[in-house]
Amino acid sequence: MSRRRSLPALAVALLTPLALSGCGLLGGEEADLQVYSARHYDLESAFEDFTEETGLTVEFLYGDDAELLERLKAEGEDTPADVFMTVDAGMLWNAGEQGVLEPVESTVLDGAVPEDLRDPDGEWYGLAMRARTIVYDPEAVDPDDFDAEDTYAGLGDPQWRGRICMRDETSSYTQSLVASLIDLHGRERAQEIVESWVANDVEIMSNDIELLEAIDAGGCEVGITNHYYLARLLEEDPDFGVAPYWASQDGAGTHVNISGAGVVAGSPASAEAQQLLEWLATDGQSAFVDGNHELPVNPDVEPEPLVASFGDFERLPVDATAYGSLNAEAVEVLDAAGYR
Ligand SMILES: [Fe+2]
Repeated sequence: MSRRRSLPALAVALLTPLALSGCGLLGGEEADLQVYSARHYDLESAFEDFTEETGLTVEFLYGDDAELLERLKAEGEDTPADVFMTVDAGMLWNAGEQGVLEPVESTVLDGAVPEDLRDPDGEWYGLAMRARTIVYDPEAVDPDDFDAEDTYAGLGDPQWRGRICMRDETSSYTQSLVASLIDLHGRERAQEIVESWVANDVEIMSNDIELLEAIDAGGCEVGITNHYYLARLLEEDPDFGVAPYWASQDGAGTHVNISGAGVVAGSPASAEAQQLLEWLATDGQSAFVDGNHELPVNPDVEPEPLVASFGDFERLPVDATAYGSLNAEAVEVLDAAGYR
């Protein structure tokens, strides 16, 4: 019980390199729950709803995923964090491997979160889904030209030469996509696929929004991004000139990843932390996913209308163990292909 329950002044001072979000912190008051989050989207209003419904207050701290994980490890049992939230299945798996999370047993969570979107031991649960799919300029591209069986690999076809933009190799989004290609096709074939993109003079962009804006501006015609970035831009401007295409619908399905969270090992507020996860997966699903145009993990919850307008799609099951354990190989594949 010696654990500190709120972020002490010293810790806050140390956090400046982590892009500390002042607005989430309740001015140094003790909150019931402390959340370390690498998910940067619209947490505040969801947590406010949670407080309203349960009376439990939440402080949260934004940071880079790898930095927050290192921080949890360094703080050990002195950490003020009760919940760790992050945005990549491989990262959630990694947090579990590093021993910073503790298992939760919850029929509510097991009922709300599909099996492939949670840890079999209950150390973490997916709470929102994001599809990494094809986006294109409808004035330049006939979607019938995509390979409906394996759309990602199909972008290596010479017909797409000089027309493609993709995200940089340092992004966990790119790395988990390539890890899923290795998982699906084996390393050799994954290597060929990445090389075929490079041979098509793929232009590498440093973020998904920049990529979508490049397509809208005519700088490229096809790309791969997370679906919610397109939804965000379409919300701002319904005439934004980019359309979504659900990848690999005649094959393995569209690559999806998750945002998720787990209870921090040794948290003195593990019961309340579990309550927060349960709420986020059920009554709070819409509050949590809609603001960022993500997809609910809970099959009983409808996606918000703009994302729903993209249409239903079949998804590739998420294999967090593969994305996490194949991450190093994915980085090697990208590097060996000269993808940069
Ligand atoms: Fe994102």
